[in-house]
Amino acid sequence: MSGTGKVIGVISIKGGVGKTTVVSNLGAVLAQQFNKKVLVVDGNITAPNLGLHLGVLKSKYTLHDVLYDNVPIWKAIRRSEHGFDVLTSSLVPGKSQRGRINPYKLHNRVSQVKKDYDFIIVDSSPNLNEEMLSTMIASDELLVVTSPDYPTLSCTMHAIKVAKERKTPISGLVLNKVRDRSFELSVQDVENATGVPVLSVIKDDVRVLEALSKTTPAALSAPKRDVSVSYCMLAAKLAGLEYSDPRPWSKVLGMFKR
Ligand SMILES: Nc1ncnc2c1ncn2[C@@H]1O[C@H](COP(=O)(O)OP(=O)(O)OP(=O)(O)O)[C@@H](O)[C@H]1O
Ligand SMILES: [Mg+2]
Repeated sequence: MSGTGKVIGVISIKGGVGKTTVVSNLGAVLAQQFNKKVLVVDGNITAPNLGLHLGVLKSKYTLHDVLYDNVPIWKAIRRSEHGFDVLTSSLVPGKSQRGRINPYKLHNRVSQVKKDYDFIIVDSSPNLNEEMLSTMIASDELLVVTSPDYPTLSCTMHAIKVAKERKTPISGLVLNKVRDRSFELSVQDVENATGVPVLSVIKDDVRVLEALSKTTPAALSAPKRDVSVSYCMLAAKLAGLEYSDPRPWSKVLGMFKR
């Protein structure tokens, strides 16, 4: 059975906001919770670390071989132990694999495997260069990862402007590392400033860092945490499926809220 092959690019023009974490967790819940066929791609070509998040370290071929040396994409795709496929980039690329790349090449290669997947999620470089352009061109839609502070908001507004100029649709924002403190920007603040809906609010949680140390997405290693439920809700939205918080206390809280 062939998939619908929706390509979702995960971007931000700021390092460390959580792009790779979003990619690995979304991949995990789409595959394990919603039974989707998923490929995650490390489009952060000069500073890749998706493989480090997922424990996929030794690959005979990588995206570098696909983009620079025309190795067929299927040869570089690996199965992760988390129920979805991964296309990593080289941590130490060869000498011939460091130059500029045609930003349309990633789109071309990813298109060759679209039919094999329901979702292809592309992790992006934080730099506004050909790598981010490659992600934008390859993607059917974009998620912009941000956090509730002014410096990140400013970068987010820049990223949105670039995406709009490129005419790549933006599905929404992921507001990550939220601590529920009064000094933080609210969802409303972020939506008003950007004009883009916040699709998901993800708490700052030390279990995300712990999960990284175990090379397992937090959504799998700590499924009952708020962060994990948030990832399930986001995945459900992207897949057009129903999902409600399965934890018993959330039902009780819901009754009080009503
Ligand atoms: N919700 C969260 N709570 C706590 N820590 C988080 C959360 N999301 C991400 N992190 C941590 O923040 C750090 C940076 O995350 P990540 O590598 O995903 O960012 P990035 O945007 O991909 O960075 P880069 O631009 O350098 O590629 C990691 O240590 C990650 O575990
Ligand atoms: Mg990253």
